[in-house]
Amino acid sequence: TEERLATPVGTTLERYIMRKQAEFPYATGELSQLLRDIALAGKIVNREVNRAGLSRITGAMGGDNVQGEAQQKLDVEANIRFIRALTNGGECCAILSEEDEGIIQTGNQHGKYVVAIDPLDGSSNIDVNISIGTIFSIYRRVSRPGGPARAEDFLQGGRAQVAAGYILYGSSTMLVYTTGHGVTGFTYENSLGEFFLSHPDIRIPERGPVFSVNEGNWFDYPEFVRSFLTTCKERRLTGRYVGSLVADYHRNLFTGGIYLYPPTAAKPVGKLRLLYECYPLALLIEQAGGVAVTGADVVLDVPPTADLHQRAPLFIGSAELVRELQAAAL
Ligand code: AHG
Ligand code: MN
Ligand code: MN
Ligand code: MN
Repeated sequence: TEERLATPVGTTLERYIMRKQAEFPYATGELSQLLRDIALAGKIVNREVNRAGLSRITGAMGGDNVQGEAQQKLDVEANIRFIRALTNGGECCAILSEEDEGIIQTGNQHGKYVVAIDPLDGSSNIDVNISIGTIFSIYRRVSRPGGPARAEDFLQGGRAQVAAGYILYGSSTMLVYTTGHGVTGFTYENSLGEFFLSHPDIRIPERGPVFSVNEGNWFDYPEFVRSFLTTCKERRLTGRYVGSLVADYHRNLFTGGIYLYPPTAAKPVGKLRLLYECYPLALLIEQAGGVAVTGADVVLDVPPTADLHQRAPLFIGSAELVRELQAAAL
């Protein structure tokens, strides 16, 4: 028992990043530093999330964000923490956040990277103590170094992402990310304030027993979605829907399964945002051996429009299940 409870002596995130960087002779360390900055902000938000009920940062701000959603205090708090960490880290020249309409210039005009971020995903779950997350997507800037970042830096398309990942503030807090060489998971040890390598090479099962969808919108869903869901039920698959994309996604990554956010009457291209929800999670799922489509099209191949907060339907998870749905969408 002592052995089992002993503090993990495994690899810290820091050691892992340094080892990975050493494998790439041309790596100059900026991306490594950027990942450290994201992990730092994640630790700070983790602390805020864990004490939200005590520090009066639950509840709504009283205003709406650019999405037309009632902004939660923790949405704003998380947004501030990530902007501050990325600004102070020096490697990120600009940020696109769900919580801000325009691009946020950090002032690091020689920073090589830009970050698109959903600082707090699953806001409706904050006040009821259900898991929530952060989703991030990293691009190398293409605009002129030394000047301000521009929209084009964020509109390079899903396959131009150099890294993507999420933090899940769940029963344990985890950081899961890819830099294009597989998917790696780290678990946060609160007592030490460190992320430790816990899942070196995450692969999603080809098929799985779970489908995740908001059945409340059943009568708004397109026919291809309803017929697919009916098939899932005929096969007695398990329905699991947390209402936090990061939590549903992470569970399905291990159990196998499919998460669906289809178009509805009210949201004809779905609710989830392409640049900081669909693209990063699609890169991760392909790196883990899964598939992500918007219906007939593969998410990472959907070209962005000029709208930085554009939405897209999302069907993501085990290859066999998502391809079956994609065939129904064609
Ligand atoms: P966010 O809290 O960042 O706005 O995203 C919420 C998303 C996603 O996390 C979740 O799966 C979905 O909204 C739930 O939407 P419904 O309540 O419409 O099912
Ligand atoms: Mn939101
Ligand atoms: Mn979200
Ligand atoms: Mn959000």
